[in-house]
Amino acid sequence: MYPRFLLRCICFISIHIGTTLSLSQEHEMSSILVSPAPDFSDPLGLLVACHGRIERQCATLLRLPQHIEHFGPDEQAAQAAAKALTYFNSSGRHHHQDEEEDLFPMLEPIARSRGDSAILDLIGELLAEHGQMDAAWQALQPFLEELAASRPVETKALPVDRFAAAYRPHMAKENDRLLPYASQALSPAQRAHLGRMMALRRQPRGG
Ligand SMILES: [Fe+2]
Ligand SMILES: [Fe+2]
Repeated sequence: MYPRFLLRCICFISIHIGTTLSLSQEHEMSSILVSPAPDFSDPLGLLVACHGRIERQCATLLRLPQHIEHFGPDEQAAQAAAKALTYFNSSGRHHHQDEEEDLFPMLEPIARSRGDSAILDLIGELLAEHGQMDAAWQALQPFLEELAASRPVETKALPVDRFAAAYRPHMAKENDRLLPYASQALSPAQRAHLGRMMALRRQPRGG
């Protein structure tokens, strides 16, 4: 009886420590171990770095249901939810705008003039997927708002799988096909313009 009780205690503590570490320390570790992100002078590198940050957010979100099942809507879950809300309502939105308003419109005439129909089709696919990703975010956001306020949510209804499934293949297509194309197609002047537009989008607005 006693050894079985002891074993359950050890299991509980190790799960708690493991999940807590995975939800809270990932960002700190990544900021220590990973080299600094590119700046606006390397806008394509910056877009890849954004994908890395989105992937880390997805990984944290995917761990949320298990964490909540073990520990309820605790402080760790609230912090993870609040960070995701902040990220996807600011940087995540800017990232889509960078692509939809600047990168894609720059690439389309180049692809058209070269007869690169596969790239034109790819841009059409990516735009349609942005709509699906926005819908996945609209479905997830209310759950995260509840968690950020430390209120309980039904973990089976938490649509984190749908959200990650919308983002991951999309980012892989951009990393593997679109950004390499952009890197050989855009002139230095076009890259500089893209970087300026991305910087402008992130400037705090007065008034
Ligand atoms: Fe995209
Ligand atoms: Fe992207």
